[in-house]
Amino acid sequence: MSSTLTETIAPALETLRLRQAEPTTTPKEEATAAEAKDESGYPYARFLPHFDNTVKYPPLTDFEHHDPGLEALKHAEPRAFLNNATVSDLTPRFGAEVSGIQLHKLSATEKQQLALYVAQRGVVAFRDQDFQDQSPEWMLQDWGSFFGRLHIHPTSGHPKGYPEFHLVYRDAGKTFNYEFSDRFTSSVWHSDVTYEKQPPGLTTLWLFDSPSSGGDTAYVNQVEAYNRLSPSFRAYLETLEVVHSGVEQAEYSRRGNRGGTVRREPIETVHPLVSYLVPSVKQSQRDVRTHPVTGAKALYVNKQFSRRIVGLKQEESDAILNLFNHIALGVDFQVRVKWAPRTVVLWDNRITAHSAIVDFDSAQDGRRHGSRITPQAERPFLKRD
Ligand code: SIN
Repeated sequence: MSSTLTETIAPALETLRLRQAEPTTTPKEEATAAEAKDESGYPYARFLPHFDNTVKYPPLTDFEHHDPGLEALKHAEPRAFLNNATVSDLTPRFGAEVSGIQLHKLSATEKQQLALYVAQRGVVAFRDQDFQDQSPEWMLQDWGSFFGRLHIHPTSGHPKGYPEFHLVYRDAGKTFNYEFSDRFTSSVWHSDVTYEKQPPGLTTLWLFDSPSSGGDTAYVNQVEAYNRLSPSFRAYLETLEVVHSGVEQAEYSRRGNRGGTVRREPIETVHPLVSYLVPSVKQSQRDVRTHPVTGAKALYVNKQFSRRIVGLKQEESDAILNLFNHIALGVDFQVRVKWAPRTVVLWDNRITAHSAIVDFDSAQDGRRHGSRITPQAERPFLKRD
């Protein structure tokens, strides 16, 4: 068995153990959307959000991540998996749309190529997929675990019995999304769960149900956001580290929002403000640059979770973190993915940020219901020149 397979199967087993530990009964105070809608005939009712306040998880442990995309660099034709596909770039260097291949039929070799391709394009939308009709076990073990250890979100709803799915959900009556009503816009640029010590890499999102129009997802290229800065400013930023916090997200749930569940206590983690994408670097050898997948440097800050710069005075930190506006305003290094039935979107959370766009009214335009699989990757790494 290859080391890559060993690495990917072990997390899946851990995942199964966690699942077995979960109680099968639902506390009455946590009536879920799933139970409320089960009899409606909705074909994806089993994927409706479930919250169980009795389940508590311990802190995440460190693990060694081996990026499948790295393997594809050794292939004679790293994009061979696209040979029978129709590919259309969303912009010259960021984002793509692919049709003509089925993700659930990709071999291990092709999934390695996919991981490399997504690391290169940032975000890729695959159209007309049969993905959402595969079993949850296939989605988690055969798909998600191939790309890294499956993350279990500390607060979001998941299908009953499957905590490794992170669900997005809004219907006429309720929303289980993380958002604020006291702002001009509900858009929140973020990379997923960057407060984790080993945040996610290749991430998969699909919608089971979407509004008649609207509800797109916007993505920003954090490599290009970095490249737009002047060399001297880039050099300074490379010396900085940022605190990323899960506290506010957890407190939002503790206040009764979003299902009111905190199943793992929040943490704060310091990451470099600029990170190299060096997936093969071992945790124990973080000062050694080994073989990178793309070698790109990216801004690794986001408005949702990045709180302050270590060692700077508050005003200095705030001034630097004005980078959030640079990231939000750069429509010339962003793309907008329009959902269509059976679209599956993959992005690399290490080099992109994103925001759902809530420009629809579920009462008039329909429900938005999606699921994300979020494999963790290596700890963000800065190789100083
Ligand atoms: C996410 O933040 O991962 C979900 C994005 C979306 O709902 O479009």
